[in-house]
Amino acid sequence: MEHEWKTIIEPFKIKSVEPLGLTTRAERLEALERAHYNLFNIKAEKVLIDLLTDSGTGAMSAAQWGGIMTGDESYAGARSYYNFENEIRALTGFDEIIPVHQGRAAEKILFSVIGGKGRYIISNSHFDTTRANVEFSGAEAMDFPVKEALDFDKPAPFKGNADVPAMAKFIKEIGAANIPLCVMTVTNNSLGGQPVSMENLKAVQNLCRKHGIPMFLDCARFAENAYLIKLREKGYAQCPVREIAEEMFELADGAWMSCKKDALVNIGGFLAMNNREWSGKARQLLILTEGFSTYGGLAGRDLEAVAIGLREVLDENYLRYRIRSAQYLGEGLLKHGVPIINPPGGHGVYVNAKKFLPRISPSNFPAQALGCALYLEGGIRGVEIGTLMFGRRDPKGAFLPAPMELLRLAMPRRVYTQSHIDYVIEVFGWLAKNKESIKGLEIVEAPAILPHFTAKLKPAK
Ligand code: F0G
Repeated sequence: MEHEWKTIIEPFKIKSVEPLGLTTRAERLEALERAHYNLFNIKAEKVLIDLLTDSGTGAMSAAQWGGIMTGDESYAGARSYYNFENEIRALTGFDEIIPVHQGRAAEKILFSVIGGKGRYIISNSHFDTTRANVEFSGAEAMDFPVKEALDFDKPAPFKGNADVPAMAKFIKEIGAANIPLCVMTVTNNSLGGQPVSMENLKAVQNLCRKHGIPMFLDCARFAENAYLIKLREKGYAQCPVREIAEEMFELADGAWMSCKKDALVNIGGFLAMNNREWSGKARQLLILTEGFSTYGGLAGRDLEAVAIGLREVLDENYLRYRIRSAQYLGEGLLKHGVPIINPPGGHGVYVNAKKFLPRISPSNFPAQALGCALYLEGGIRGVEIGTLMFGRRDPKGAFLPAPMELLRLAMPRRVYTQSHIDYVIEVFGWLAKNKESIKGLEIVEAPAILPHFTAKLKPAK
């Protein structure tokens, strides 16, 4: 008889290893000071466990490395491009497939075609580069998350959903003619890596159809979203995850993807749709800034690795391990009384720094302060999603408090094992007991656009 063993294991063995950056606390303090308390400025070799992002940081499989060796580097019409195109077409059903070097290149091109002053893009939540590209075109990015998304403590299965009545009200007020696109981000990265249900995608699609607004998916983490639908949505438990993913794409008029996430590659992306008028304009811009339409700024080997990764990511043993590892980290933090967005997201855990460090005011960047303390004590790197990242400023340039102060611990795919995560949990246990040692930060200098990448900070007086 087949046993149902409870332990969920990493469904791979390791063929090639890299040493971790082991440092002393004194070395980390020096690195932190040199980096002006901005973790983006820390040399990766000084980081022990790097949870800055799950983007481009995954481990490729032996099959993908094999694909790298057989990639076709022809400038035009490379075999690797057709493998890439066929794989994306089979998965998404879209005809027009445009390769780009990463997600934001697709965003820049798309919003150059359809954005502009007086236009509004509606979404469950825009990711920060999406928002920046919408705004750079002159258009406005409007988020409509469901209310439960903002109640971090109380678990709900689909906190990535869009608030459909709020969207409908906005469309009525502004007029559909001024809304060229609705984008559903799956999973919803800005609000905790939370999934969108099929029911919600259908409701948004219905609303958009009624008003003639195309709906696109920002599908960087489509496989994690599809697997969470399988686990949590009624009627999907027996459905193969690939079919769930295909159903998600069927509801949409187009998609773009940062392949650095769920295509299990270190670089790559695409823009896909059926609208020939838009794709024609997009290809012109592609040739201007990225490259010819059969490589879009990528090497043939990169296209090959994406084609293979898009198949591998839908392996349910992989997804079971993937989703379980984020849950494991989340459960470990909750046991130490560390507040998180509950439930944990598909690609990591978001610590609620506002609740963890209530004495540090938003003007002293509590999530950034927590991130720096986590690095100093444990060599672990996360990323702030709070006042520094959202960076709204008053006329004098002072930062206005963001609605949330989160520290995201994003998990690279197939990179760390359970003992690495046990270590992260242990360090958080120590921080929870020694919270008083964590001090707020203040700005030394910060640019106007996307300040979190390059701002300089120092401990507050
Ligand atoms: N959309 C989503 C939902 C993303 O998470 C990202 C990137 C992008 C678009 C842009 O793609 O980086 O390939 O240009 N997210 C990374 C992160 C950077 O850390 O979450 P890109």
